[in-house]
Amino acid sequence: MNALELNALCKSFGAQRALTDVSLSVPTGSRTVIVGPSGSGKTTLLRMIAGFEFPDTGSLTLNGQTLVDSTHAVPAHQRQIGYVPQDGALFPHMTVADNIGFGLAAKHASRHARIAELMDSVALDASMARRWPHELSGGQQQRVALARALAQQPRLMLLDEPFSALDTGLRSAMRKMVARLLSDAGITTILVTHDQSEALSFADQLAVMRQGRLVQSGHPMDLYQYPVDEQTALFLGEAVVMPARIEDGWALCGLGRVPVDSELDHDSTRIMLRPEQLLLSTTDDSGCRGVVTEREFGGNTCTLTVELQGDGQAILVRSSGLQAPALGSVVHLRTVGLAHILKKQPALSPS
Ligand SMILES: Nc1ncnc2c1ncn2[C@@H]1O[C@H](COP(=O)(O)OP(=O)(O)O)[C@@H](O)[C@H]1O
Ligand SMILES: [Mg+2]
Repeated sequence: MNALELNALCKSFGAQRALTDVSLSVPTGSRTVIVGPSGSGKTTLLRMIAGFEFPDTGSLTLNGQTLVDSTHAVPAHQRQIGYVPQDGALFPHMTVADNIGFGLAAKHASRHARIAELMDSVALDASMARRWPHELSGGQQQRVALARALAQQPRLMLLDEPFSALDTGLRSAMRKMVARLLSDAGITTILVTHDQSEALSFADQLAVMRQGRLVQSGHPMDLYQYPVDEQTALFLGEAVVMPARIEDGWALCGLGRVPVDSELDHDSTRIMLRPEQLLLSTTDDSGCRGVVTEREFGGNTCTLTVELQGDGQAILVRSSGLQAPALGSVVHLRTVGLAHILKKQPALSPS
């Protein structure tokens, strides 16, 4: 069952168009990630789901209940949706305990125990209860914001770039903790990020936004392998993109003949392979021949620029860092799996 349905949402701020025709189904209990560059409309979409912005047209339903359409809107505080905004937004004049307990009944006997339980669930030490927000690190503040949102027992949790202020190590630890916490509690979650690796690792469902439009959604692995166009391909990771002619399920391109994921013939199109689909060898002479013209050592991997013999095209190939062939070496490239045919970039209307 789908928890949340977004139907053709549109929103402008004056002349600035922020969302155009956004539709998406979010399955119950899933972790959906919305990814896109800065300014693509991610925060606007989350605020609209939370009830802090209203669409010009379109509708939103949660578990079958209409939250907003052209005739009415359920106010934010009646939606039972947890929202952790981009900056955490803790109340600076309240202690950690009071921030977390903000929405809990003030005189309730179990309030204290509930706050302690929430602090424990986000791995905050009990001794922090009396601290002020400014006495906490960025990661601790985010956990307090998350505990405050969890206190409301939300039907849906919205997280806006919750890890962006944290450094790399802490970020991945927090991501794992939050993912475990939310899936143990069975809470449907939407996370917004502009970080592609965060998106790919956190998501059951990934939705890519660009200029206020949702350009593609699906399982992260499918989007990585079968991106709809070149910009999406490059947004989700490194890619080798080249012109090709397609005949009977084969691409004829700078790499020779490569099998593709389409039966349709094409005189002129573009194909994509992920770097890990190119195998490089200095001894096995099957496959396409090329010469190493640049070499960038990066520790465990080395990025090589290889000029292909056929058409002189230069492509980037990864090699193991310590065994990378020397500059000027003749190498052979074999491909693994299928190349993906990219659609022509959809013409996006200027926003
Ligand atoms: N309150 C607002 N008033 C005017 N323009 C806004 C407002 N909120 C967002 N925008 C504009 O809408 C677009 C999308 O913004 P936003 O949703 O914040 O993007 P993202 O979160 O993906 O970075 C941007 O061009 C932004 O400048
Ligand atoms: Mg934002």
